Amino acid sequence: ADKIDRQAKRILRNNDRGGYTVPTSGLYPYQWNWDSAFTAWGLATFDIKRAWFEIHTLFTGQWDNGMVPHIIFHKRADGYFPGPDVWGVPRVPHTSGITQPPVAATMIRAIYEQDKRYGRVHMELVYGRLISWHRWFMANRVEDGMVAITHPWESGRDNAVDWDGGMGNVDGSGVGDYTRRDTAHVDPDMRPKKEDYDRYLTMVYYGRDCGWDEGQIREGSPFRVADVGMTFILLRACRDLLMIAHDLDHLTDEIEGWIRTLEAGVARHWNPDGFYDSIDLRSGDFSGSLSSASFLNWYAGIENDQMAIHLHDILDRVEFGVPSFDPRREGFEPLRYWRGPVWGMMNALIAIGLEEQGHVQIAAKLRKDTQRLIAEHGFFEYFSPVEGTPAGGGAFSWTAAIWLTWAG
Ligand code: DGY
Repeated sequence: ADKIDRQAKRILRNNDRGGYTVPTSGLYPYQWNWDSAFTAWGLATFDIKRAWFEIHTLFTGQWDNGMVPHIIFHKRADGYFPGPDVWGVPRVPHTSGITQPPVAATMIRAIYEQDKRYGRVHMELVYGRLISWHRWFMANRVEDGMVAITHPWESGRDNAVDWDGGMGNVDGSGVGDYTRRDTAHVDPDMRPKKEDYDRYLTMVYYGRDCGWDEGQIREGSPFRVADVGMTFILLRACRDLLMIAHDLDHLTDEIEGWIRTLEAGVARHWNPDGFYDSIDLRSGDFSGSLSSASFLNWYAGIENDQMAIHLHDILDRVEFGVPSFDPRREGFEPLRYWRGPVWGMMNALIAIGLEEQGHVQIAAKLRKDTQRLIAEHGFFEYFSPVEGTPAGGGAFSWTAAIWLTWAG
């Protein structure tokens, strides 16, 4: 295990571009929002100073309206599309125009609690940044207590089955010529398909044409889906922010209100077929997708017996943790990104929630299964839930980070 610890640290060092860490070299050559938060959590196990630095560089990308973008293009890098020129965001550092799951408050709380003496001043500096980001979510994205995404990339689960309905409204046929770069780094069968990519880009051009104005996007965008993963993650992040607020002696009413709103939203994510699900806000239809995000209820502090039954059922069939899509359902693809593979950091979030809610044994099993996957195959982006085959990018930062903090 010592040897693997050293490998994990080396990956984080090698992916360091000077104050920020890329998810993996080549495929993702900039700072990604939630990747960076996980990475900071991992860095905190051996370099707390560098961990806080990671957080501060993430917030250099924050917009005046509070939004923290999903990519920060600190400096020019080759091999990625769509780069800063395509997003057309008039600020420096250049950024994308959409956000990503707000795990930051949760990771930052963990880093802070590891060394409060050292972290206090950093926590004070970052607290207001977190508040403005969450406030932006509540004002612009929360509908009926659920968090709406305007682009599948915001979910972090790009090609999940959750978006199939919403993406059906997006006409990608007018997108014109472009060259994908992701498929030059990774086997195309492990990535989203061309028809998905045409629509991703169509939605990027749409947002850019709206000048990234949230009101205009909300009015006219063909894609608007309440993402069950986002709702759970934001709710959890608000609970952590509340604990930080208590610690720093800040007012808590606003955060308490957010928590109540999001708790009401969680109930609306309940698909009558018996599981937490995403909802296409344009049609009102549930996605019908039992995904790894459906199992973030414990992480959000919410107990649910039916989800516990689903969890046991899936873990009886799958040896490697919670797959991004249930292998028994139609549309399952073992190696295609978010349509089947197991992701280590999703296992970590699910297990953290289970352990906190007292499901200690199953949390321990998830941890052991994830540990075994990484120890046997290396620090890959994701793995087949059928055979554990490693897939996507290698030497991946968040896989290394969860090894150091949780799985190792
Ligand atoms: C990509 O380019 O595949 C990323 O997931 C977008 O964030």
